[in-house]
Amino acid sequence: MKDPVKFYPGAQTGQGDAGDSVAILKSRASRRAFIKGVIASGAVAGSATFLFGGLSGCAPDRPVAGAVERLMSLKINGRVRRVDVLPNETLAMTLRYKLGLTGTKLSCDRGECGACTVIIDGVSTYSCSTLTHMVADREVRTIEGLEGPNGELHPVQQAMIDELGPQCGFCTPGQIMTAVALLEANPNPTREQARHAMSGNLCRCGAYDHYLNSVMRAATSVMRAATSVMRAAQEA
Ligand code: FES
Ligand code: FES
Repeated sequence: MKDPVKFYPGAQTGQGDAGDSVAILKSRASRRAFIKGVIASGAVAGSATFLFGGLSGCAPDRPVAGAVERLMSLKINGRVRRVDVLPNETLAMTLRYKLGLTGTKLSCDRGECGACTVIIDGVSTYSCSTLTHMVADREVRTIEGLEGPNGELHPVQQAMIDELGPQCGFCTPGQIMTAVALLEANPNPTREQARHAMSGNLCRCGAYDHYLNSVMRAATSVMRAATSVMRAAQEA
């Protein structure tokens, strides 16, 4: 059996306290880089449920008998996307497997975990429990739509990095979309209001406090930005 001590930072080098500190700093830096990658692209491993064929909501090999796809125009992240949609197709399936917007995750596929959260007309919504046909005339935003005009991260994404919010990162896009919807409706929430707003997003890694810290940090930077815009307008 392997000796777990050998895999502890600094143990292999035998550098004692100094070696430990360097190794821990390196591991924090690489963890920050990992989180940055996850948050920027929403790219984490796909849902195991999907791989094993457990999802409903338009699995292409199991269409409802007699169901016919209909061509729809959807407003996604400020663009009109044309796509063929089955009558029983969920928005999560359309986004991920027809439009390639895989930042939206699928996990429970039954409205329990929040991994699939997107924003529809300003409201955070479970896309696994929303039929695509119901959003024909509505504005849908996914994690991919948060990117600024020059590729900059949304303040919530940046705060997640600064607070080292995610652990595995699977629930992160959903957490971010809920936080964005919250701060757009209420830019200055109390910690309790933020906790309540985020309560529909489960995290198997239990990173709830980190996520909450991130939301509060993002709220501070959103408020700061709003204040400086107001000051600039007054001085102009
Ligand atoms: S995948 Fe939609 S709520 Fe869990
Ligand atoms: S960070 Fe792993 S499930 Fe939330």
